Amino acid sequence: MLDKSRLRNPALFGKIVSPEKAAELIQDGMNVGVAGFTPSGYPKKTTLALAEAIRKGRKCRINIWSGASVGPEIEEALAEVDGIAGRQPYYAASNKTLAHEINDGEVSYIDQHLSHFAQQVDYGFFGNVDVAIVEAAAITEDGDFVLGTGVGNLPMFVKHAKHIIVEVNTTIPLEIEGIHDIYICDPPPGRSEIPIYHVGDRIGSPYVKCGIDRIDCIVESDIVDHVRNLTPPGPDEIKIAENLVDFLENEQRHGRLPKDRMLPLQSGVGSIANAVLLGLEKSRFENLEMYSEILQDSVFELIKSGKIAKASGCAFTPSAHVREMYAKEPELYNRAIVLRPLDISNSPEVIRRLGVISLNTPIEFDIYGQANSTHVMGMKMMNGIGGSGDYMRNGYLTIFNSPSTGKNGAISKVVPMVTHADHTEHDTMVFITEQGVADVRGLPPVKRARLIIEKCAHPDFRAELLDYLEYSVRSFPGHEPVALSRAFSMHERLRATGTMKKTSA
Ligand code: COA
Repeated sequence: MLDKSRLRNPALFGKIVSPEKAAELIQDGMNVGVAGFTPSGYPKKTTLALAEAIRKGRKCRINIWSGASVGPEIEEALAEVDGIAGRQPYYAASNKTLAHEINDGEVSYIDQHLSHFAQQVDYGFFGNVDVAIVEAAAITEDGDFVLGTGVGNLPMFVKHAKHIIVEVNTTIPLEIEGIHDIYICDPPPGRSEIPIYHVGDRIGSPYVKCGIDRIDCIVESDIVDHVRNLTPPGPDEIKIAENLVDFLENEQRHGRLPKDRMLPLQSGVGSIANAVLLGLEKSRFENLEMYSEILQDSVFELIKSGKIAKASGCAFTPSAHVREMYAKEPELYNRAIVLRPLDISNSPEVIRRLGVISLNTPIEFDIYGQANSTHVMGMKMMNGIGGSGDYMRNGYLTIFNSPSTGKNGAISKVVPMVTHADHTEHDTMVFITEQGVADVRGLPPVKRARLIIEKCAHPDFRAELLDYLEYSVRSFPGHEPVALSRAFSMHERLRATGTMKKTSA
């Protein structure tokens, strides 16, 4: 029930409507900016009501703008009734209907660097923000928003929105108030530096500024975020984490990282990234800091155990376990965590200034050091580039972590040439698999290739990759020898048989 702890100005109570009424504000062809980042802090009731109206015959296909992927109450519910015309700047393939519609070309999906989107909305590159749908824990006396666990691009959507719907979710603990630091950059030519010099610096307001007059309506919600469970670490992820810790310790010993404290870490999305970060528990590093995009479950474990002292992100993942941890000790996590808008958490300027160590997971990477984060077999969109480019382009150290094989050992993650290049060899520095560490800094292409094959490829695929390299060097000499048709033969085998392994000995 909404009370004055959630609606702190009496005038707000007069704006409460049903989700069905709120959904009537959304019209065919509109650009709708939604709160949230990953299944964290996104609105649910209004889009479920809109989907139901479409199912009953209303014509409405909209463009959904967000921080990143959001939950099934938006991406699946609307995709199932053909209610999504366009999607930016990221989605999650676990929303299977939307994944099909994107890969069949029915939904126009624009996969973007996440640090770019808010500023490009600000510049008007994609048209108006017709409606913003907020999810808030509370609305202040002045009509500003106390957000939940995800900030994403909401502050920019609210800045520009013609209509604003606010879902006030009574399941969000009110103790979260104060964790956010909302700062909006001015557009050029008036833009100045983003004054973050330490991970925990606060430079803005705890609230998303709006004002009572701009709020069209308020919907009460009690649906918790639909968080997918991450796979627990297996032997490969544990070994990758050990390799990473050895590598970072070695960097400290050689004076390439400060000896007394580690630089801030960024960690990517998914089960592998979560498991690798968890492996830092066993390291001798203390007072670690994160300057990251998403703070997955492992960050909460590491804050609890005292390994992580400060963590900045644009969202944290409210899994059942994390919700429980937060409910028990909100002050512990409020002290450690700062939640910022996405263009600040992923800002190239801040990432470079702080010297962030970037840890991401690719779909595949090649012997020359290029990585594919988005397109399986070069064609099928997985999720999107997300923030990986923001961090891999600007990090102090850029590290890709991955098991050496996928699909139960049938495919090699190390390939002769990636089928889609999201990260070029100019940005990547270190590759880590359960087999070992390839540090390719300062190496020319062929030396890079030898090291990546030797240190990272699985023994089942190593000989074939080496044979390919020697053949390319002999037959197509040049700065970066490539035998195009042979390069793709492993992928072709995958396409034909579902495995990269040779069927005959
Ligand atoms: N070929 C075919 N499928 C592949 C593949 C490959 N080379 N590599 C991964 N996949 C599939 C897996 O089979 C799995 O599919 P399933 O869910 O149907 O089983 C899915 O991709 C997820 O892979 P998984 O091995 O479980 O790892 P993950 O959960 O750690 O996700 C990425 C890995 C690459 C998909 C994920 O990290 C990603 O989307 N990255 C891009 C965005 C990014 O880096 N963001 C960081 C922001 S800061």
